[in-house]
Amino acid sequence: MQTKERGQWGSRIGFILAAAGSAIGLGAIWKFPYMAGVNGGGAFLLIYLAAVLGIGMSMMLAELAMGRSVQRDAIAAFTTLGGRRWAFFGWFSLLAAFILLSFYCVVGGWTVGYLLKALSGSLLDPVDAVDFAKQFESFIGDDSLSLVFFALFMLMTVGIILGGVQKGIERVSKVLMPLLFLLMLIMIGRSVTLPGAMEGVRFLLVPDFDKLHPRVFIDALGFACFSLSLGFGAMLTYGSYMSKSESMARSALWVVTLQTICTLLAGFMIMPAVFAFGMPPTAGPGLTYITLPAVFKAMPGGIFFAAAFFALLLIAALTSSVSIIEPIVSCLIDQWGFRRNKASLLVAGASFIAGIPAAWSFGGGDVGRLFGMTPFDLMDYVTSNVMLPVNVLAACLVMGWVAPNVFRRELFLRLEENAGRFQPKEPAWALYIGFCCKFLAPAVIIAILVASLMQ
Ligand code: PHE
Repeated sequence: MQTKERGQWGSRIGFILAAAGSAIGLGAIWKFPYMAGVNGGGAFLLIYLAAVLGIGMSMMLAELAMGRSVQRDAIAAFTTLGGRRWAFFGWFSLLAAFILLSFYCVVGGWTVGYLLKALSGSLLDPVDAVDFAKQFESFIGDDSLSLVFFALFMLMTVGIILGGVQKGIERVSKVLMPLLFLLMLIMIGRSVTLPGAMEGVRFLLVPDFDKLHPRVFIDALGFACFSLSLGFGAMLTYGSYMSKSESMARSALWVVTLQTICTLLAGFMIMPAVFAFGMPPTAGPGLTYITLPAVFKAMPGGIFFAAAFFALLLIAALTSSVSIIEPIVSCLIDQWGFRRNKASLLVAGASFIAGIPAAWSFGGGDVGRLFGMTPFDLMDYVTSNVMLPVNVLAACLVMGWVAPNVFRRELFLRLEENAGRFQPKEPAWALYIGFCCKFLAPAVIIAILVASLMQ
């Protein structure tokens, strides 16, 4: 059913910024620096870059092409292109998005809280590293406060998508993404000019290959998919709002480039500052919430930079959470004729309820454990390590094997129109993308899956 509510991007740059906004999120700014910190800096960076440029781009094109060819939601895309047998993966993508939304917004809530703390000045009250760790633990462990910030972040997300594709997502991305880049540049300017910062730059540029065991490869590959927003129907849905008169490959190249630059910038924003103040780069998930505030405290004008940093983290998280909720909302609109308002509020409300155990995973109370994991860790593990690879694999197989002609047509659409006929010969890049979705990506993803399940 093509409804009147179905949106479309108003411009190419609108799509590029919205999709880059989806990709650049907590993954690039929170997760990448700490994963690089734990996994040997430059070595992790190299594998990550190889994964994104080598296969990530092709997988993204597969998802975008699925959406654009069908101009519908994820379930419709899988069903139309693959037949009933593949419909499961549409549902599975949306279920994954629903679970991801629930705990992504919990972390999004932390950024709201930390931004408010920075603005009020109290963020830098603790005196030493231990104190900063305590501040973070008591903040995320406060059950009622986490719910308040979680709800606030969810409301901000809904507030954006209520406006629709063009007047909501696109308009907000056009303002927030340039602001994000600006804030990052300011932060990098500060970080790399600190005395001793070059140690951190070296850490990222000179790979320490001793840290490279197979696990690091698997982690980097899985993270590359997550950071390109693959496997949750996000790129598929954003692709479905794309006009047929654009070169999909060119737009996707922009998105991947912006995402890669920002991920690198995040590393160069955080590591030099961490090294300049003699902090360990290996703090893990606490790096941005514990180590960085301690770093800000030690630098002149620290509170200003702290506020700028958490504002940029919030922007990054928000433009991503929007792309996690949108596939589900888009499905309710396309499949069942829901109004956008009703669909958005319904999904947000349900996801909030589902996310409560995740928000309470850090408090004193007992929210239960499964396989030794808190609800938060379990949701994270299942979505990133199991559901994501399964869905990405399905998209590659559909575009590589089941509907390769549709894929080719989507990749060439513009060339074809310009020339008035099919390209006589496929350019090398298109051959590579086809090969990648048929053989390379499936092989790599199966390896990730097997490794995750054996863990
Ligand atoms: N890419 C986003 C990030 O790095 C997360 C995301 C995953 C967003 C999947 C949408 C879909 O934070």
